[in-house]
Amino acid sequence: MVKIAPSILASDFSRLGDEIRDIEACGADYIHVDVMDGAFVPNITIGPVVVRSLRKVTSLVFDVHLMIEAPDKYIEDFSDAGADIINVHYEACIHLDRTIQKIRECGKKAGVTINPATPVCVIEPVLGYVDLILVMSVNPGFGGQQFIPGTLKKVRELAKMRKENGYSYEIEIDGGIDENNAAMVVEAGVDVIVSGTTIFSAKDRKQTIERLRAK
Ligand code: DX5
Ligand code: ZN
Repeated sequence: MVKIAPSILASDFSRLGDEIRDIEACGADYIHVDVMDGAFVPNITIGPVVVRSLRKVTSLVFDVHLMIEAPDKYIEDFSDAGADIINVHYEACIHLDRTIQKIRECGKKAGVTINPATPVCVIEPVLGYVDLILVMSVNPGFGGQQFIPGTLKKVRELAKMRKENGYSYEIEIDGGIDENNAAMVVEAGVDVIVSGTTIFSAKDRKQTIERLRAK
């Protein structure tokens, strides 16, 4: 069954702990944490200090999405703070293999993220030893944007390559997912749906998570 990873970017930051407890009670699988540095993306969010505090309120998997330049510098900090999956952008890593090894050395799951304009072929050499591939279905930086349909082709490609080569990565999609397109992305091969606005602005979050998952 598809996993649901609510993005706390769309939550009420003044009550972050309660928001996380609430989505945990509503059936979330992962907590998706968007880290932005104002350089790799035109927005700034949170860092390891906040992740460390949030670690106390839930035992759910922390799926940390680093939208930052030179992520190597901060891998240990996020690992120590309690991240479980550390996602780095292909576009931000000059030595992607080294970065993946660093995440592994910290004992964490390594994820590689690709922007909407980045093709799958550039990450082909690492597909055999990563835990997760995150396909951005919007340009990173902000919540509440519209899903870019052309990104689905990459999900299908990743699912096909996984099957043909016996790889084991999870395929995650992030950006603009709602009840209307969830079925389509799952059908294409997505294992983990990130959703911010759809879940946090819903009147009934539990029902919304169930609907996203039921597709
Ligand atoms: C965008 C972030 C997403 C975002 C998703 O840069 O990586 O995780 O919060 O939000 P929605 O679901 O609102 O598109
Ligand atoms: Zn994200």
